[in-house]
Amino acid sequence: MRIEIHDSSTGLAEQLRRLGVPLDMRCDGCGTCGRCRVHLLSGRWLENGVEVASPAEVLACRTRLLSDAGTVEVPFASCLPCADGQFADAWQDLDPMPVLDKVVIGIDIGTTTLAAAALCNGRIIAREVCFNPQARFGDNVMSRISAAETHLVEMRQVLLDALAEMLRKMPSPARVAIAGNSTMTCIFHGVNPAQLGRAPFDLPQSNFAPVPGTCLGLPASVPIHTMPLISAFLGGDILGGLWETRLEKGDYFIDIGTNCEIVARGMHGSLGGAAAAAGPAFEGAGIACGTRAVPGAICRYRGFRDYDMIPGKPPVGLCGSAMVDVLAVLHRSGRLNRFGRLVPPSSSLEVADGLSLSERDIEQLLKAKGALSAGIRSLEGAFYLMDCKRLVLAGGFAQYLDIQNAVAIGMLPDRPARIVGNTSLAAAVRLAATPRSAKELVTLAQSVMEFHLNDLPDFELRFMEGMLLP
Ligand code: FES
Repeated sequence: MRIEIHDSSTGLAEQLRRLGVPLDMRCDGCGTCGRCRVHLLSGRWLENGVEVASPAEVLACRTRLLSDAGTVEVPFASCLPCADGQFADAWQDLDPMPVLDKVVIGIDIGTTTLAAAALCNGRIIAREVCFNPQARFGDNVMSRISAAETHLVEMRQVLLDALAEMLRKMPSPARVAIAGNSTMTCIFHGVNPAQLGRAPFDLPQSNFAPVPGTCLGLPASVPIHTMPLISAFLGGDILGGLWETRLEKGDYFIDIGTNCEIVARGMHGSLGGAAAAAGPAFEGAGIACGTRAVPGAICRYRGFRDYDMIPGKPPVGLCGSAMVDVLAVLHRSGRLNRFGRLVPPSSSLEVADGLSLSERDIEQLLKAKGALSAGIRSLEGAFYLMDCKRLVLAGGFAQYLDIQNAVAIGMLPDRPARIVGNTSLAAAVRLAATPRSAKELVTLAQSVMEFHLNDLPDFELRFMEGMLLP
């Protein structure tokens, strides 16, 4: 992300902290860990007391602005996960956004989190994020679908109220666009999502005409556009990701979550996708020491007292990315055998002060990683698709995942990986900026062939194999 600095009263790392950029400063600014690396794009700077002219790469903790203003590029890799909303988002390194002299806002309606970004003159000028207040109706898509049978109006209203509250804190937009999974999109429009939860899993509606902004507290003249849906399991969030990343042959776009959505570009440019039900383990649910990415969550784990956490509170638990690390660390050290059993035998193991992982927890994690790896392998054998050559990893979870550890436990194949962040939000912003793209999006959605994993040969077998550690 690109940031302008105008204040030279304190060092660059402190300036970035004040602007909400969660730099990874694991040596506490001693200049030894090399994690807070940023690119100076303009301005004059001092690093370790020596003047540096832009462009240059420096350690933010050792650098201070000399001129009146300067611009820095903060790579996503130099940031920690942040609880308050994905300020550091890899999608900002994708294709540049259109340059318009008016403000447009894109909104990603996630099952857990709502995120909005305002674009003006090709730059993101404001961002807001909050938890989806529908959580009180259930913490996953299936529970929301069943709650909507009787509470659709109420669920829609709490969502609209939360979005309106976010928009009140942002600049007034000329246009808005939303993207979300199929359930969230249907609820936004007041469409009953019941049939998304039962066979044959048909979409009640796949395309939505623009609606006036009044439902979000905006003037009626502000249109709200909606990202089309591909299928019950592949929603507008995934379509947006495909639009943003423009997969090449052999690319596998994967959004890891309770449902892991996977879309691959195969031979002849065909697109095929499926959703693997991984369950909520990687979101911290159902795991005794699990937590979401909130203050106090351990987000990167290397050993008993060797971990990074989201600042703000003492350790409260491990979030999904750290659980992948724990499995890899325990397996490498021989404390976990390939069947997920602790060595020497024990029902649980303390992995950090006061935080223990039981064999039952480990089993849940292995099921989650087994579903994802089986989904990828099954799609590799599907009609017109081809072996995975590159991973394109979207979503909040992947942003903080140690890919080597994910490969080490067999969750992902050992391929080059590109982390692309919240591409659903990026695509919503782009749709708000270029509403004429709607036709292109409908065509793209129709080009994706959906597979049901349970119908693919050997999926069950691959799932059982996927639960094993390599
Ligand atoms: S914080 Fe470690 S080098 Fe800057």
